[in-house]
Formats: sequence, structure tokens, C-alpha cells
Amino acid sequence: MTDKTPMDAALPESEIQARHESNRAGWNEGARHYTAQIEATVAFIRAGKSNLHPLERRNLGDLASWCQTAIHLQCASGRDTLSLLNEGVGRVVGVDISDVHIDNARQTCKRLAELGHPVNAAWVRCDVLDAPHELDASADLVYTGRGALCWIHDIQHYAGVVARLLKPGGVYHVLDDHPLTNLFELEPETFVLRGTGYFGHWETSRGWPSTYIGDSLGIPVEQQAEKYERVWTLMEVVNALIGAGLAIEYLGEHPEHYWNAFPNLKPEWRGLLPMTFSIRARKNSA
Ligand SMILES: C[S@@+](CC[C@H](N)C(=O)[O-])C[C@H]1O[C@@H](n2cnc3c(N)ncnc32)[C@H](O)[C@@H]1O
Repeated sequence: MTDKTPMDAALPESEIQARHESNRAGWNEGARHYTAQIEATVAFIRAGKSNLHPLERRNLGDLASWCQTAIHLQCASGRDTLSLLNEGVGRVVGVDISDVHIDNARQTCKRLAELGHPVNAAWVRCDVLDAPHELDASADLVYTGRGALCWIHDIQHYAGVVARLLKPGGVYHVLDDHPLTNLFELEPETFVLRGTGYFGHWETSRGWPSTYIGDSLGIPVEQQAEKYERVWTLMEVVNALIGAGLAIEYLGEHPEHYWNAFPNLKPEWRGLLPMTFSIRARKNSA
């Protein structure tokens, strides 16, 4: 019997760093799409709104009652991070590799403060694998997802970072694309296999899906930075978290999506496959 493990696909650290740096360049391009949304995010947060997905709200419960500090890994320009404050979290720290995303988040907070709405938020620009040690054991919640794990090329190192950032008894939560979705073309009206495998799959790309950023950046696709994505199976994600000492409290597979990944899929094909998965895991309190 074959049980493919993350060890099959372990990469040298230099290659992991090179891929992540290439992704940093790609996301510095992609983040320009979010720069145009800063004023909208300011208005959204000032109005007390939250971008949390209903599945996240259900899995996390009443954040105000247990979460003083949340660290948002791969926080992009911070709209979801700041939404956590509107959900009742006391303090948030957003971590992202993209200089432009972190700059957007800082500008958003500056603007909020100017408008008399200061927020308890800090931002760190770094590779998630290099999250600073001053954040160790500081988080009641390490929150991430919605297009996050595919950019990380060492899931075991990643899970170790999650474990060190959490306080004893703290919770990790991810809601992300189900690895099955990566097997199919995005644009057809039915599920059409791309011919890629489920196990150990990684790929490079330039450009962005039509229903996400599309060609709104105005940079010819061939001139855009090359991005590296890695599809982690559920087994790899769960085993990495267990290996880092976290206890899995909940694993969900959901027909709901958080973005319009398959825009042309006929209604009768929707709901047949999981679009997302979610995990709530806890660090031992001892
Ligand atoms: C699809 S976005 C996640 C969006 C997020 N759910 C939100 O809107 O708040 C993926 C993010 O991962 C970040 N990222 C990619 N690789 C990273 C790495 N190695 N370390 C930290 N952040 C990374 C990108 O800069 C980007 O902001």
C-alpha cells in the first residue's frame, strides 16, 4: 500500500526560499489590486462590518468571549484581519510576505486613525516561515486561509510556526480551497480534469484567475512574476498539524466556496464536490 507523505516532496531550504521570494514579487504585483480598495476597506471597518465567512464564524464561536490576541497569517491588505476586531478580538497582528500588502494595511490603519477610529493592529512583513520570535506564545488564535496554504512550500515548517505562535490552549483555524478543486479547470461549465495529480502537486503560473484579479493590473501576463503554488492534500495538512503537537478538534469539507472559483459551472454541478475545507486545532494547554 502506498501512503504518500510530505517527506516524498521535501525541498531544500534554498529552493523553498527562492519560491517564496518569487511569490513575494508576484504578490507585490497582485496587491496593487487591493491598494485601490483602501478607502472601501476603511469605510467597511468603520461601519463595524466583518468579512468573516459564515463557516469561520460557526467554527470559531463568539470570539469576543475568548480571543484577546489573533495573529493572521497571510493577511493580505488586512481587511479580514481588521474584521476580526469587529468580531470582538482585542488585538490583531497581520503577517504577510508582500511589501505592498503590508503597506496597504498600514495605510488603512493610518486613515482609520485620522478619521477617529484607531485600531489595535500591528503588521509584520515577512515570510510566514520566518515569523518573528517576539510573537511566540502570544496568540489565542492563529487565523488564516482563503487562498493561503497553496503558497507555502514546507507544510511541516509552517505547522511548527503555528504551534510556536500559539499560547498554550490557543486555537489554529484555516478555511481554504479543498485540494480536490485543483484537479479541475476553472472556466468550463462542468468539471473538466486538468490532468494534474492529487499527490505532491505543485506548479508555476503567471497571471491571475478571471474572477479574482484577472487582467486588471494592466501588466502583460508574460511580464508578470512567476508564482509557485503547492497543493497540499488534507492528509498532509492534518498530519503536519498533529506533528507540530496540535490536537485536531474539527475537520470540515464544505460545498460552500469563498470566491467564485468556477464561474461558469452549471447549477446542477454545484454542491457535488467539496470546494473548501476547514480545520480548528488546539495547542495543548500543558
Ligand atoms: C489569496 S491571499 C490571502 C487573502 C486573505 N485571505 C485575505 O484577503 O485576507 C494570499 C496571501 O498570502 C501571502 N503570502 C504568500 N506567500 C507567503 C509567505 N511565504 N509568507 C507570508 N505570506 C505569504 C500573499 O502575499 C497574499 O497576501
